[in-house]
Amino acid sequence: MAENTEHLALWGGRFTSGPSPELARLSKSTQFDWRLADDDIAGSRAHARALGRAGLLTPDELQRMEAALDELQRRVDSGAFAPIEDDEDEATALERGLIAIAGNELGGKLRAGRSRNDQIACLIRMWLRRHSRIIAGQLLALASALIEQSEKAGRTVMPGRTHMQHAQPVLLAHQLMAHVWPLLRDVQRLVDWDKRIDASPYGSGALAGNTLGLEPVAVAHELGFTNVTNNSIDGTASRDLVAEFAFVAAMTGVDISRLSEEIIIWNTQEFAFVKLDDAYSTGSSIMPQKKNPDIAELARGKSGRLIGDLTGLLATLKGLPTAYARDLQEDKEAVFDQVDTLEVLLPAFTGMVATMQFDHDRLEAEAPTGFALATDIAEWLVKNGVPFRHAHELSGACVKLAEGRGQELWDLTDEDFIDVFKDFLPADLAPQVREVLSTEGSVTARNGRGGTSPARVREQIASAKSLIETLRAFAKSTSDGSAYKSPESLR
Ligand code: ARG
Repeated sequence: MAENTEHLALWGGRFTSGPSPELARLSKSTQFDWRLADDDIAGSRAHARALGRAGLLTPDELQRMEAALDELQRRVDSGAFAPIEDDEDEATALERGLIAIAGNELGGKLRAGRSRNDQIACLIRMWLRRHSRIIAGQLLALASALIEQSEKAGRTVMPGRTHMQHAQPVLLAHQLMAHVWPLLRDVQRLVDWDKRIDASPYGSGALAGNTLGLEPVAVAHELGFTNVTNNSIDGTASRDLVAEFAFVAAMTGVDISRLSEEIIIWNTQEFAFVKLDDAYSTGSSIMPQKKNPDIAELARGKSGRLIGDLTGLLATLKGLPTAYARDLQEDKEAVFDQVDTLEVLLPAFTGMVATMQFDHDRLEAEAPTGFALATDIAEWLVKNGVPFRHAHELSGACVKLAEGRGQELWDLTDEDFIDVFKDFLPADLAPQVREVLSTEGSVTARNGRGGTSPARVREQIASAKSLIETLRAFAKSTSDGSAYKSPESLR
């Protein structure tokens, strides 16, 4: 298969000279937009049929055009056809490839009624819709790995922290599940975003629509869209939906970074709450004893880059006139980078989460320390008729007493409790506060919906699992040809 490497430009009729080499280098985008080639060819196929229906291609021409596009796809797949130095963008390269197969006469007819402006706006939507499903599937796998760890954690209690200080004991499962919900919301964001981006700009032309009687609805359906954009200027010039995707990707990065930070701290010698599997840790080139949590650190680091992609894109969009401007070419690298980053990061991260091992004894031992049961004392006092304002102070007095002696709350004697509570409780009642000085009692008592009691945690695990099942329908759906319809439950 001889590749046609003859120069081809999509414009130039009104120019006396070709582009300067400096401009050509600046203008070129094939190095990153070639990955839209498959979507471009799918768009060309749908467009050819629209031209056929409008009588602008004879049935015979249409048949030859479709055969030529099939051949072009084969050459792209095999690598026999690829962009050359001179190709300005993927659209230019593919037109050169089509003409090499179909000839100038037929190949030159496909461009009628479309512009690279509506094409590129459509292609980025198609590409993102496909990858949103891959990322959704990966996020659900991560959420499932966290749920499995939560189930394995059973009733193990750990120190819950606010301001990084010991606060109240919580179930390890509760802490882990706190990372599941944001990830599931990230998937829900993609499902919701998909409803808005489910509209094809094809047929918008350069900005104003087309004069050739092309019907955009059929093209949209062929490309997996339910709708057509309502305004051809908006269709070609808006990138808010690309930015919205970029936000979800950045938010996903932030959510994973928060979990990373926790894992990194838990994995230190001082905490020693969790051990990472060898297959998901790295070593040091100089210190033989080191085992480092690089996956978590890379996730934390890459979240910065995911945020950067979003902010860069927003800055590009700000202040653009409202119809196509070349600035819009800058939309692609940002989201390509995000997708590449997440699609490599998420499987590694999930492997690390699925294989990490918690030290249950250590978590249990640390859970009640640092006066983490002080709130339980205050709430026990409230149940015994002491106004919370005073209860808070009395519990604080117990902490002060124990801290002064270098003790924990449960080391205080009956006499200590009798003395501290003397203005509010009879002497025979005061020592009974010991009943709540256990982590088991503390977590079991927090049994309101969403609380850390074992029963409530079992309940939230069940809810999360059923939400995952619902969301899987999105991850498994295709965005090309059979548009995903979100079930009522996700609306
Ligand atoms: N490569 C361009 C982009 O990605 C395609 C549209 C070019 N349109 C134009 N009128 N120069 O946005």
